[in-house]
Amino acid sequence: MTELETLYTKIITCESCGLCKTRTHAVPGEGAENAEIMFVGEGPGFHEDQQGRPFVGAAGKFLEELLGSINLTRSDVYICNVVKCRPPGNRDPMPEEVDACRPYLLRQIELIDPTLIVTLGRFSLSWFFPRDSIGKVRGSLRQMGGRHYYHVYHPAAALHNGNLRQVILDDFAKIPLTLEKIREGQPVAAAAPASVEQGRLF
Ligand code: URA
Repeated sequence: MTELETLYTKIITCESCGLCKTRTHAVPGEGAENAEIMFVGEGPGFHEDQQGRPFVGAAGKFLEELLGSINLTRSDVYICNVVKCRPPGNRDPMPEEVDACRPYLLRQIELIDPTLIVTLGRFSLSWFFPRDSIGKVRGSLRQMGGRHYYHVYHPAAALHNGNLRQVILDDFAKIPLTLEKIREGQPVAAAAPASVEQGRLF
């Protein structure tokens, strides 16, 4: 068993918070183990909970379209969420649920060791950078603690607000050059030190 598979076993049998009582399936994440890009969403919705896979509902369809717009497919990247079990009724995850799940995302980052972490939406952004606002940092590349981060609106936001569709497409269009910049070791702005509270939301 690989270390990632061992982690998945822990996640799907996890009982560290109350979400285990209402989930159908935990959703560990999926994609290439050597992915250069890791996408981090908020948490499973109805369809993800049913199937045990991330981003398989309407937001996932748009995410696939966004990946396609930069010539990528799901299997080229790694996709996961801040919390691995669906909060009932798709409410926001609670602080203790985020806390209970924190070791899993930290370990995924360690194992995948992506060149670039792309946060999808406000919630994922806050996990890494609790003080930042998505409207201000979207479309920008920053570094913190030796890792590179890029931020976009959540794909589901475009389903509720059609104007955001093009904004998200435009932000995705910058990802290939952003990766190039990191690979070439070009200087990247550091996030404010006050932001360095990885995963400490509350
Ligand atoms: N929204 C998310 O944040 N994650 C999913 O897996 C699906 C929808």
